[in-house]
Order: sequence, then structure tokens, then C-alpha cells
Amino acid sequence: MSLKVVRWHDGVVQMLDQRRLPGTVEYLELQTVEEVGEGIAHMAVRGAPAIGIAAAYGIALAARSITATTPDDWMEAFQKAKQGLAATRPTAVNLVWALDRMEACARRLLDRDGDFANTRSLLDEGLLAEAREIDEEDEWMCRRMGDFGAVLVPDGASVLTHCNAGGLATGGYGTAVGVIRSAWTRHSNLHVYVDETRPLLQGARLTAWELSQEKIPYTLITDNMAGWFMRCKKIDLAVVGADRVASNGDVANKIGTYSVAVLCHHHGIPFYVAAPFSTVDMSLRSGEQIPIEQRNPNEVLAVQGNRVSPHDARAANPAFDVTPHELISAIITERGVLRPPFTESLATAAAHPLERSETAR
Ligand code: MRU
Repeated sequence: MSLKVVRWHDGVVQMLDQRRLPGTVEYLELQTVEEVGEGIAHMAVRGAPAIGIAAAYGIALAARSITATTPDDWMEAFQKAKQGLAATRPTAVNLVWALDRMEACARRLLDRDGDFANTRSLLDEGLLAEAREIDEEDEWMCRRMGDFGAVLVPDGASVLTHCNAGGLATGGYGTAVGVIRSAWTRHSNLHVYVDETRPLLQGARLTAWELSQEKIPYTLITDNMAGWFMRCKKIDLAVVGADRVASNGDVANKIGTYSVAVLCHHHGIPFYVAAPFSTVDMSLRSGEQIPIEQRNPNEVLAVQGNRVSPHDARAANPAFDVTPHELISAIITERGVLRPPFTESLATAAAHPLERSETAR
């Protein structure tokens, strides 16, 4: 999957509209930060790392339209744009992580001595460069995760994945799908079971599409088939992505992930999470503190826009659930494969960030 989910072109943010995949490959042309915010909220772009990347380009776009003449007024306008973007999807911590990183970059540039008029052009270029860095770095991180995670996938294995944690959800390559891709490169002998992932079908539409393109063999199943396939010994391991990892190893990911983890536990199947450190939120003690995004019930009442329930039906639509750390065999990160107890392994890895030279392979 070599498509970039978000691109910058001539002062415009181009966003691959994933709602139209796999049928149509089309980029939205976004001219304002509000349009970028809508693209994130309405899931033209989705997947935690990709949301962070989109927000980084969005705030770089916002910065260009700020008309302030003093650093303080500039920062006030920047903060307003930042808050608007941060509110779009509350669970994926990569969003706030990327925006905080963009703010730190802006503050560094503002702190330089000199005339504010000159600083303005430095800000425009510096923020765009930082957004590009976040984007490219994410792809390198995913490739490192792929290398670490591939070791956990035996030759000939059948792997279950849920939702889409592929190139479409990241700066490229993917987290959980990246592990599958790296394992495929090593053995060329594995099979993937893809949960369709109701209500928005990220598995059926996006993961299936990516695996088709990579020519990795897969079978699409409905979410409620996973247990039976485990019972029939068709699945050797599961690997999923994450939207937020708490410091004790509890993981928020697409609704249905918890059920997969419980099923794996029952059947004695390893359950792995692949996530970069930009998804780890060391400020949270446990998953109970992770905010869960509640989406429009119409996404459940209808399938691909076609209403399937009675006109007076009500629905719930939490977009994510939290898998408790006890159900997780390992967390695959760009800093290595972390094992329980996660409170310790995450703290150790968090204290050892990668140097740039280690990432630019
Ligand atoms: O609602 P979505 O499609 O943004 O949810 C995506 C997921 O849950 C992914 O598994 C997660 O963001 C990790 S993507 C590398």
C-alpha cells in the first residue's frame, strides 16, 4: 500500500477519503483547518497514527492563515485551532500527541530572537517540516514494529486481525498489518482472518483491500465468527492495533477488540497489540481513564447508509473498547516487544526513546 493517507500540496491538505474505499480512490482537497477537522471527525481519515498526522498537517495549515502581529496573539490563535482539532476524536491519543509536538515546535521557533515578521515565515516552513517529520517517522516506526513483531508469527501461521491497523491507518506500512506484512516477507506462508468490523466495516473494506494489494492470502469473516474459527483451531494468534495504551498496559482499540482478546484467552491463543509509542499514554494509570468516543447511532442502525432496523429502533455506538492488560500476551512497539508486567516494561521503554539515527534506517 504505497498511497499516502494525507499529503501536502501547494498549501492544501489532500486527504484520501477512506469512506469511499475500496471502490473509489479519491483525495479531498482541504483548504482550512476546519475542513481538516471535519475530515477527521467524519472519518475520511481514521486510525490513530493517521489521525495524528492529519492533525499535524491541519495545524500547519491553520498557522498560515493566522493574521496576528504579535507572538502572543499568534499563539492564542494557534491554541484555538489546536483545541478544535483535539476535540474531533477523543480516544486516539496520537491526535493530542501530534498537536503537542507541533505546539512545542512553534514555541521553539517563537522563542528565537528577531523580528516577528521574519519569524512568521520560519513558523510556516518549520511547522510544515515538523508535520512531514511526524508522517515519515511514523512509517519508519511501523517498519521497526514489523521487524520486531514478525518474529512472533511462526511460519504457516493463521493470524486474526480486527479493524484496520494498516498503511491506511498510519504514515504507511501499518502497525498490526505491518507485523503481518513483515511476517509475510519472511515466510510467504501465512493466512489472515480479517474481522469485518461492524459498524463501519474497516476490516471488510480497508484491511481486505490492503491484503489484496499485497497478495497476502486472507479470509474475511463476520465479527461473530471469530470464536468458532478459534474453536476449530483455524487461528494461531491475533494481532491488533491500538488507539491508546495506558501505563499498566490496558489497551483501547476498535470496538470488538475486547471480545477477540477474551476469546483468545479462552482458547489459549496469543493476543498481541502493535502500537508505536505515540499511542502510549503514560499519564493514565489504567484503561478506566481512557475516554471512549461515542459515535452517531445511525452508524449501527444502517449498513453502508442503508437502514436495516425498524424506524423506531435505538442503538448504542461506542467506537472503542478497552482490553485489560491481563489478556494481552505482548505489546509490539518500535522500541521492542514488551511483555508483562507492562507497568514495568512500558516504563522502561518509555524512559528510552529512540534516537533519530536509530529510526532513519
Ligand atoms: O475508528 P477507527 O477506524 O479510527 O479505529 C481504528 C482502530 O481502532 C485501529 O485499530 C487503531 O487506530 C490503530 S491504527 C494503526
